[in-house]
Amino acid sequence: MNNFKALVPYLLMHRTQYTLGTLAVLGANTAVLLPAYFLGRAIDGLRLFSSGNPATPGLTLSQLGWLALGLVLATLVSGTLMVAVRRSIVFASRQTEYEIRRDLFAHLSGLDKNYFDSARTGDLMNRLTGDLSAVREMIGFGSWQLATVVSSFLVSFAWFFSINWRLTLAVLVVFPVIIGILAYLARQVSVRYVPMQEQNSAISAKAQENFSGARVVKGYATEDREIAEYKVMNSELIRRALHLNRVEGPLQAFMSLLMGVAYVLVLIYGGRMILGLVPGSPLTLGEFTQFALTLERLAWPMLSIGLIANMLQRGMGSWGRLQEIFAARPRVHDSGRTDRSVKALQGDIRYENVSLDFAGRKVLNNVTLHIPAGQTLGITGPTGSGKTLLSQLVTRLIDPTTGVVKVDDVDVRQIPLSTLRENIAVVPQEPFLFSDTIASNVAFGLDNAHYQPIETRKSVRDTRPPEDNDVQPDMERVQRAAEIAGLASEIVAFPGGYNTMLGERGVTLSGGQRQRTALARAIAREPRILILDDSMSAVDTETESRILAGLRQVQEGRTVLLIGHRVSTLRHADHIVVLEEGHIAEQGSHDELLAAGGLYAELERRQRLESDLSEGDEAALAGSAPGQVSAPADARPRPGTADLRSEVKK
Ligand SMILES: Nc1ncnc2c1ncn2[C@@H]1O[C@H](COP(=O)(O)OP(=O)(O)O)[C@@H](O)[C@H]1O
Ligand SMILES: [Mg+2]
Repeated sequence: MNNFKALVPYLLMHRTQYTLGTLAVLGANTAVLLPAYFLGRAIDGLRLFSSGNPATPGLTLSQLGWLALGLVLATLVSGTLMVAVRRSIVFASRQTEYEIRRDLFAHLSGLDKNYFDSARTGDLMNRLTGDLSAVREMIGFGSWQLATVVSSFLVSFAWFFSINWRLTLAVLVVFPVIIGILAYLARQVSVRYVPMQEQNSAISAKAQENFSGARVVKGYATEDREIAEYKVMNSELIRRALHLNRVEGPLQAFMSLLMGVAYVLVLIYGGRMILGLVPGSPLTLGEFTQFALTLERLAWPMLSIGLIANMLQRGMGSWGRLQEIFAARPRVHDSGRTDRSVKALQGDIRYENVSLDFAGRKVLNNVTLHIPAGQTLGITGPTGSGKTLLSQLVTRLIDPTTGVVKVDDVDVRQIPLSTLRENIAVVPQEPFLFSDTIASNVAFGLDNAHYQPIETRKSVRDTRPPEDNDVQPDMERVQRAAEIAGLASEIVAFPGGYNTMLGERGVTLSGGQRQRTALARAIAREPRILILDDSMSAVDTETESRILAGLRQVQEGRTVLLIGHRVSTLRHADHIVVLEEGHIAEQGSHDELLAAGGLYAELERRQRLESDLSEGDEAALAGSAPGQVSAPADARPRPGTADLRSEVKK
């Protein structure tokens, strides 16, 4: 129930709708019981009339007419009020769903790498859809039905007591049983529902990973194994779902039975009263009819109690799962230490005795480095040596365990995250492109200023709908970036040029094209600090040199962290570090490192040998089969790709 507190603010946003709706339910349930009263009156009146006793003349024709009119009006009023209920409570629940979904998404967007490293996409999707629907049903249909039950019982029992209190007490006998059953049901549903939703999440995650990883599954021909695993998870899901359904079925029947018992009691006990066998408690035929008809009206609310308890338990279970998302906090965030006055950055980077631990394992060890603004630092080293982490410390995707990372001599933890990241562009090792046009993908980092922050924890009625932010990207900048990234000529050849859709609804790019699109995205941003994390591994050496030459022209005043494995790439850097198991094994300029004869020199020697070898091959090929061989822009294994990766096993 602690969870419930967090839901209250969302309900309060639409308190008028929910209150009016509840009042309408009360009104409708009062009106719906009036026909029973009118009928009872009519029956008693008609009975007196037909007994022919002049002392009690009974009902006149006009009185009968009024009763009939009242009956029609009552039905009309209750019908109208039911429409009002739908318009208020059900509409409000949709709005609440919107608000929770908006806030969840905003909250998720504010979480950091840490969270998404461990969260499963499929699970999150399931929570945003299935669990959110369960919550909406609880507050929409659930609260409506709950109000119906409560008001039906209140109004009915008010009538019951006004008619005959002894008969009412007889009916009340069945209630302790009902309450006991409900308590049991609620407990059962709550212990069975969450495991079912967990399985739902697991199965969504499995499907999502299989579709995203379709190429791997196909490549390894493991479809059958995946299908078998999915089948096992699917049958577990149905087992848990049936386990849940099993508690619901018999309960409905049991409630019916209890209604039957109540009827029998009313018939026997009420009948005896009409016959005058219960001293001091007379009952007329009309009153008996009203009593029985009112009881009849209670049948549905009674039956729906099980349904409601079920819906509330499911809703609260799901709300708990959404609360888990809301409870997650980013580890890296602005804090009291943040210095808001930092607005612009020059791009001078310092690492001072930086170490980073993961579960007690040192992945970066006492790194000290200075990269003056505008310079290029080359970083190389075997896979897993910490190159990516070293670069992520600058964007604060992660904070160091000990030591300080500074930009412009300010601890990055004091620089507002937004300022820091606005000045940096990263081309990650595995680029991610959106299912959008090439132009939008390249312009992705440009138009931030056009977007207003989304207001959360506010009613949809108080916030204006998000503006149509269909900002046209600055095409000149996009084209210039594509040019430098060596992508322009290929884009022009696409069917739609820059407006060609990528991904699901459009063309599929090769690995090298993806990398160069990501590169163009970073270049278009014209950042102070540019981080290239092995981002040209799928681009051949010649294209890479061309791109780097282009980059150097626009690089004026930009600091570049260039992570790579090719000496041909790294040699132009102002300074080069070679990482090994998280520490700097050697550093210096290209020439200094060659002269030192260490890891870097060994790397250079091997790549030179390889390149000589394959040049020999090419010469031989050219001799035997003369012809035009156009150089593909994307690399298959090509000269110069030997790297330190193999060193890792040493
Ligand atoms: N989130 C993480 N949790 C635990 N270990 C990590 C995490 N990220 C990276 N590592 C470990 O840190 C080491 C360095 O990783 P990384 O910087 O990605 O290497 P690379 O030099 O290949 O870019 C690796 O051994 C990797 O397993
Ligand atoms: Mg890496």
